[in-house]
Amino acid sequence: MSKLAIEGGTPVAPGGLRRNWPIFSDEEKKALLEVLESGRWWRGAYEDQSESKVGQFETEFCKYLGVKYGVAVTNGTAAIELALKAAGVEAGDEVIVPAVTFIATATAVLAVNAVPIFVDIDPETYQIDPEKIEEAITDKTKAIVPVHYGGYPADMDRIMEIAEDHDLIVVEDCAEAHGSEWRGKKVGGIGHLGTFSFQMGKPLTCGEGGFVSTNDEELAKKCFSYHNIGRVQGRPFYEHHVPAWNLRMTEFQGAILLCQLKRLPEQTEKRYVNGEYLAGELEKIGGIRALKRDPRVTKRGYYFYLMRYNEEEFGGVSRDTFLEALRAEGIPAGTAHNQPLYKNPVFVEMRFGRTGCPVRCPLYGKAIDYTAFHCPVAERVYEKEIVALGKDFLLSRDQVDLVLEAIRKIKENIDELRA
Ligand SMILES: Cc1ncc(COP(=O)(O)O)c(C=O)c1O
Repeated sequence: MSKLAIEGGTPVAPGGLRRNWPIFSDEEKKALLEVLESGRWWRGAYEDQSESKVGQFETEFCKYLGVKYGVAVTNGTAAIELALKAAGVEAGDEVIVPAVTFIATATAVLAVNAVPIFVDIDPETYQIDPEKIEEAITDKTKAIVPVHYGGYPADMDRIMEIAEDHDLIVVEDCAEAHGSEWRGKKVGGIGHLGTFSFQMGKPLTCGEGGFVSTNDEELAKKCFSYHNIGRVQGRPFYEHHVPAWNLRMTEFQGAILLCQLKRLPEQTEKRYVNGEYLAGELEKIGGIRALKRDPRVTKRGYYFYLMRYNEEEFGGVSRDTFLEALRAEGIPAGTAHNQPLYKNPVFVEMRFGRTGCPVRCPLYGKAIDYTAFHCPVAERVYEKEIVALGKDFLLSRDQVDLVLEAIRKIKENIDELRA
């Protein structure tokens, strides 16, 4: 009789892994009610920010990150746009982004009228490969947006060195990496600017939200202005200095984030310890391993747990068949956002509107063809190697053990999957 669930056996986790996210208590309920009854539902333009939940959250999150300045905004996509805008990225500029990330990293570049240039990933960390960044730099390059994909910090040492050599701005996209550290420093405080998402799946959430962090006072002032209709602190309310968005966060979001931030250190630690345990146990099973464990990654936050599958060590069974078998056991595994971004219709079909700007634009003056992009590592990893799980199971050792049990079971009964 078959043992594997995909062949009719009993699943390791019947009904699937427990989904325990978002986590809240009476504290969040009380905080929301307090805002509701206070009559102050927005942060206010210039009023005393120590009385505003958003203002208080900005102060607390900056302390947590170890940065001087921060602006809370509506979402993580807007945060990247805001950071690029504050950094002076404009039409005709190129911005280097990894080939593997959520689409927002690249569409935020388009939204400020610049051209995203995709760069391949490192095969052992799945993060943007710094050496490939150097190869992609041209006289039009203005910024690099490294993404700490899945929560694994990109190589910030090399990236900052390259940026300095070529006079480029670095915007760290930390949408998936709250709490991650590179050499003991929280991500978001290493580049010139950092951006975060607080969308519901993220390790720090208020449903939807975002944040820009920086240590540079001038950049911070620009972020404030661009997120607040071009207002400048100290100037009249209806005096607007730059064409800008309204990206202000509401007090309800600020109130929830203040509660959620208190939970973040303990949750990050739990996921980190369980992630290390999982990496060690996977080594014993063989054939599927965690991303490289680099001593410079002193704390790893998680949005995804990313694993590297080796078909040969699983008797020639393809990664896709393995994924189906894992899902049948009740483990919701997939490939995360690993399809290289340039394969999306927006780039393949150059869906940039009637004018084709910013990619076909006289100010840019070059002819980019996204169908000609080829990042061999990213493509191979997506097709054959990556196995990704959402972060939530990492809060419970029992759930981690179920994942391990399912993988072990598939490996031991791999012959059932061979045609
Ligand atoms: C890497 C990355 N960048 C940017 C974003 C955009 O954040 P938001 O969904 O809050 O706009 C996300 C969110 O999924 C993300 O994962």
